[in-house]
Amino acid sequence: MCGIVGILGSKPVAIDLVDALRRLEYRGYDSAGIATVEKGKLDRRRAEGKLRNLETRLHEEPLKGHVGIGHTRWATHGRPTELNAHPHMSDRVSVVHNGIIENFRDLKQDLQAKGHKFTSDTDTEAVVHLITDGLQRGLKPIEATKEALSRLHGAFALAIIFAGEDDLMIGARQGSPLAIGHGKGEMYLGSDAIALAPFTDTITYLDEGDWCVLSRDTSVIFDKGNRRVDRPTIKSVASSLLVDKGNYRHFMAKEIHEQPEVISHTLGNYIDMAAGIVKMPALGIDLSEVNRVTISACGTAYYAGVVGKYWIEKYARLPVEIDIASEFRYREVPLQPGGLSVFVSQSGETADTLEALRYCKRNGQTIASIVNVRTSTIARESNTILPTLAGPEIGVASTKAFTSQLSVLACLALALGRARGTLSPETEQELVKALTELPRHISTLLHNETVYEELAHEISKARDVLYLGRGVSFPIAMEGALKLKEISYIHAEGYAAGELKHGPIALIDENVPVIVVAPEDELFDKTVSNMQEVAARGGQIILISDAPTERAGCRLLAHIKMPKAHALTNPLLYAVPIQLIAYHTAVFMGTDVDQPRNLAKSVTVE
Ligand code: AGP
Repeated sequence: MCGIVGILGSKPVAIDLVDALRRLEYRGYDSAGIATVEKGKLDRRRAEGKLRNLETRLHEEPLKGHVGIGHTRWATHGRPTELNAHPHMSDRVSVVHNGIIENFRDLKQDLQAKGHKFTSDTDTEAVVHLITDGLQRGLKPIEATKEALSRLHGAFALAIIFAGEDDLMIGARQGSPLAIGHGKGEMYLGSDAIALAPFTDTITYLDEGDWCVLSRDTSVIFDKGNRRVDRPTIKSVASSLLVDKGNYRHFMAKEIHEQPEVISHTLGNYIDMAAGIVKMPALGIDLSEVNRVTISACGTAYYAGVVGKYWIEKYARLPVEIDIASEFRYREVPLQPGGLSVFVSQSGETADTLEALRYCKRNGQTIASIVNVRTSTIARESNTILPTLAGPEIGVASTKAFTSQLSVLACLALALGRARGTLSPETEQELVKALTELPRHISTLLHNETVYEELAHEISKARDVLYLGRGVSFPIAMEGALKLKEISYIHAEGYAAGELKHGPIALIDENVPVIVVAPEDELFDKTVSNMQEVAARGGQIILISDAPTERAGCRLLAHIKMPKAHALTNPLLYAVPIQLIAYHTAVFMGTDVDQPRNLAKSVTVE
């Protein structure tokens, strides 16, 4: 998703702007640009594609202003061309924007009728001309911006600078995150604290509807009613976190390998190791009284939620409804008081998940969010945060965030089971022990990746790949297919193994690899029958299982041998090979593993 940065500096800011944009690259983008005010005039450089193209432009024609804004753009309105890249500007004002201005067509028509000339296909340009219009009518920059903000509908974050104003920047936040960074005689704006980490660790997050007026020494915040407000200033930990690849070729590889550590770390937060029991923070609701759980999330976080549903139903015997947030938010789900709504999100900024949360809140549910970013909007709007302690996840394809989310959901299921009396103390201890053994099993899996490198050759030849799983392995199959699609661009689908014969089996021939996620549990024999149906049609089966190879009862292209672990922890364990299959296939095919085309790390638009 688009990244925003702004600097009111004491020296030329172009290099620092690009540096900050580089730290936002993980969000995904397809063009970039910066603008500065130099000798009272606005000027900008923009480029399609990666930041190195922008750097080349800046090298050819440097920008020397001490106040500037920068942007990485993930296209929503208009193709990813230089013309549509931000910053957008008139001779009076320059704007960078993350989000969508929903009423931009109406605004554009009005402004065009008044003689404003638009040069891009973006919604953002309407903001530029709206402010310019106010300035032309004699309003001062702050007044012109205030007036313009009152006319914008949608979800957005903005950073704005003005010609003739060397000590002024305005920021606004409505639906997309924005943070102020406080330096010594310098002031910053950024989409998140990670972008600002090289400059400052002193951060103020704007609340929904806030806008701010910044100079090098002051920051004044107004709420959506234009009342002056104070927002807390915090010390961000982002600066102390190394956002680099270490010895790995890609962030994704590093993040896959971090899983034993981050899972331990996350479990440590929810388990009393000495007593062998789960210890959840107060959820603002008596767990023994919860009558229904609703889970909502997007993408990988949704698949974590599906696993959570299987666990909560099994261990707490509680009905769980789960839906993709973009569907849930418009479904008009009837909700009774006494329900617990759980939202799962790595970024904590996903627009659809946030709106689903607000729907549940309006309907009297207690809100618990499983988030990786504690300062995120979803976290702040929840009654309780159940943090995942995965650290920043930079690769667009979620890996360690997924298994950390599963770790929290497993603890939540056990806590609900204990509270409702469906889990005996002995069983709870057995399950907690299984969780604590998990990081060791994952470490074992990560010792040898040769099998995945070999498989990558085969999978890379395929046009379609099917993933099959039964029971709690079904969401892992869906997650496997999503991972492969995202980073290798090979079409893949995850199916419930039993559903195969109801349609997808028509796709099977000798060119279709079928990856079967099948721990040797009570459902294994059923899945074997489905594998045989595939084998009979010439499908190439890759089995991921702890069962002896002979139990497959058919010819396999490969058997990824898994360690024996407890049924509770199998979804976390089996997530690792499906991540490695996708990773090595993408590396073999030479795609952009960490920033796959068209994808954004944090999806703050509908
Ligand atoms: C995962 O690999 C994806 N890139 C994507 O599906 C992601 O999980 C989804 O957009 C939800 O993001 P969130 O966890 O930040 O809410």
